[in-house]
Amino acid sequence: MIYETIVISIDAENNPHIAPFGVRERDGLVLIAPFRPSTSLDNLLYSHNAVINLTDDVRVFAGALTGRCGWTVHKAEKINGYVLDGALAHKELELVEVKEDPTRPELYFRVVHEVNHAPFRGFNRAQAAVIELAILVSRLHMLPMAKIDAELAYLKIAIEKTAGEHEREAWSWLVEKIENYKAAMSGENQA
Ligand SMILES: Cc1cc2nc3c(=O)[nH]c(=O)nc-3n(C[C@H](O)[C@H](O)[C@H](O)COP(=O)(O)O)c2cc1C
Repeated sequence: MIYETIVISIDAENNPHIAPFGVRERDGLVLIAPFRPSTSLDNLLYSHNAVINLTDDVRVFAGALTGRCGWTVHKAEKINGYVLDGALAHKELELVEVKEDPTRPELYFRVVHEVNHAPFRGFNRAQAAVIELAILVSRLHMLPMAKIDAELAYLKIAIEKTAGEHEREAWSWLVEKIENYKAAMSGENQA
């Protein structure tokens, strides 16, 4: 089972870096597996610490893929790191094992500290649709445009029926990114 989370890592100057990652639980440890190259991977290998944030604000996921990363954070309690303001829950992690791989290394963390800040309010289809579109956007260069268009048309139904303001905003950022990508591709083809 994979849970979609927001991982906050820190660089050598202690600056927070915010990125979505699907994490797994294995034998009591948390597994994060970044594809190379990745700023998060560099940071995690450097600092050995991470915070995973569970949030229903899907703008943070869409923002990370569209150059909007200025979310406010506060200091973690037990490790050197940062927690996303407004997260429903967070876990503070320490790196215990690295399984090296040229494409996608596996990083195993132990949970040092975890806090629930607010209750889970139930599933929302528009939030799931934004997460799905965010994943497609993170793979734009690998997927045929017809697949993106078909999935976008289907996911849009959940947005139209069930979205709130945050979901609509996140959705609009991702759609804009797809449109810009399409325009750049058609420009390249004409040149
Ligand atoms: C919901 C979601 C889950 C993701 N999970 C992963 C993951 O497990 N591994 C990965 O390499 N990228 C994943 N990505 C893509 C990264 O977030 C994206 O490539 C990001 O820019 C990480 O690169 P960075 O560390 O250089 O910022 C995911 C994206 C989304 C939207």
